[in-house]
This record gives sequence, C-alpha cells and structure tokens, in this order.
Amino acid sequence: MLTADDVARFQFSGHTLRFIKTAVKKIGVPLQSARILDYGCGRGMTVAKLREQGLEVYGADIDPQYIANGRPLLAERDSDPNDVLRVIDNHGSTGFPDGFFDIVISNQVLEHVEDLDIVAAELRRVMAPGAVALHVFPSKWRLIETHLFMPAVHWLPKSQWRKTAISLCLAIGVGPRWKELEGLSRNEVAEVLYRYSVGQTFYRRVRAIRNTFGSVGFDVRWLTPGRVGVLPFMNMPFVGNLLRFGLRHFWNVGVVLTRTEIAASVTESEQVCVV
Ligand SMILES: C[S@@+](CC[C@H](N)C(=O)[O-])C[C@H]1O[C@@H](n2cnc3c(N)ncnc32)[C@H](O)[C@@H]1O
Repeated sequence: MLTADDVARFQFSGHTLRFIKTAVKKIGVPLQSARILDYGCGRGMTVAKLREQGLEVYGADIDPQYIANGRPLLAERDSDPNDVLRVIDNHGSTGFPDGFFDIVISNQVLEHVEDLDIVAAELRRVMAPGAVALHVFPSKWRLIETHLFMPAVHWLPKSQWRKTAISLCLAIGVGPRWKELEGLSRNEVAEVLYRYSVGQTFYRRVRAIRNTFGSVGFDVRWLTPGRVGVLPFMNMPFVGNLLRFGLRHFWNVGVVLTRTEIAASVTESEQVCVV
C-alpha cells in the first residue's frame, strides 16, 4: 500500500520536473492548470508527489493491484481516487476523455509494453492538440538489463538461448535479489527470470519507436538522457552528436512526442538533461 512516508521519501526525478516546466511554457498553459498523465504510474507515487505541489496529475496503469494500492492514500488526501488513478482496460483505454491532457510522462514503462501500437493510439486520443509527452526507458542495446542486472541477456532471442544465458549468469552469482526468489533452487530462479524476461520486457530499436509513434501522427524527438559529467560535452560539434547517439542507443531512451496540429516542438538542444 502506498503511504505518506513513501511519498515523503520519494525523490522525484529532476528531468521530468524540468520537462514539465519547459513544456507548460511551450504550450502556454499555467503550470497549476496543466493536466498531466503519468502513464504506467504503478502505485501512483509520482502522482501523489506532484499533487502535493498543487499540480493536476492523474495516473493510469495496466495492473489493477498497483492502482488499488495507491488509491487509499489519495482518498485520505481528499482526491477522488477512482478519478485520479485509472486501471487501463483490455483494449488499452485509460478511460479519460479525448484531448484531456496537456502533458504525459512515463518512467521505465515502455520497455514493458507488449503492444506499443495500442499505447500510441491511446496516448494520441487523450492528448490535446499541441500536448507533449516524455517517455524515459532503458535502451535495447544497454549492456546490463536493468531488471535482471545481467549483461546482454535481453539481446538474445526469447528462446533457449536466453534461458541458458540467464542460468549462466546465476551460476556466477549475477542476478536480481527479488523477495519472491528466496528459497527457490537455481533452476527454478532461472525459470522465473526467463518467464519475466519473455513476458514482461519488450525492448525495441529506436527506429521502431519512432515509426510507431510517428504513424499515429506524433512529432517524435529525442531527449538526450545523460549524466552530469557528460553535459559539458553535449554542445560540442561532432562529440555532442556522438554522445547523444550513444546514450540514446546504449543507455536510456527519452522520447518526446508532440501531438501535432499545433506545433509545440521543443528542440533537442533545449532538452539535454540528467536522467
Ligand atoms: C517499472 S514500473 C514503473 C512504475 C512507475 N512509472 C515508476 O517510475 O515507479 C513499470 C510499470 O508499467 C506498468 N505497465 C506495464 N505495461 C503497461 C502497459 N501496457 N500500459 C500501462 N502500464 C503498463 C506496470 O504495471 C508497472 O506499474
């Protein structure tokens, strides 16, 4: 269950807040009246945190249990929890009205989405013309898979190859320390992790992401996720481009979508930030 303590301890990511502040200026909506959706909100931690700051934030998630765990805290805070946190239905609908949102954010979600076409269509539906979205998630070619903490296993086909690689990593002591793995044999752990990797992670090439969102009418740009240390190099000719390319393909993808009709594009150089 999400508690007030969890929210108080939660460090909200600076890049998302900076994105929201930049976006409202571009769109021309006051920060306090912008409607924001946290897509794949989990228990609604980010939703609760931003609501504390007076922002009109909503959340949607495909997992009803996460949503159920977040609603009691929102109810305590005098929000209508059924309105604020929504379960995404079997057709991918969040249940929000057409064109409801000015800004959409998601953090570490799109790599879990099996059917990105459905998500793209739904985001397009709920975003107002000119609305912008920022989705941050790990790149396909990132060396260490961010859930299993194993090198390159997600590069392999979803077959015996991947399962064998997972087993080998476990044999040398590399792997996650999830509670539900406690007491299982190594083979059983390998089976659980393999099933997770196959059923819950769907890494895509940057080009595929561009095509999917572009095909439903989004203007697609890239935010360059970087570390503080690399920021001074970002504006250097050639080196900056190389870094942008490398970080996007081998670290985190930050995709910025603008729902077309009113151009409210944010140029890449304005978006260099820390993820
Ligand atoms: C790693 S968690 C991230 C949760 C939250 N965004 C955060 O930053 O803590 C991934 C979330 O994506 C949700 N998710 C997975 N597939 C989804 C989909 N197709 N549509 C919406 N949410 C999805 C999961 O239920 C889970 O809550």
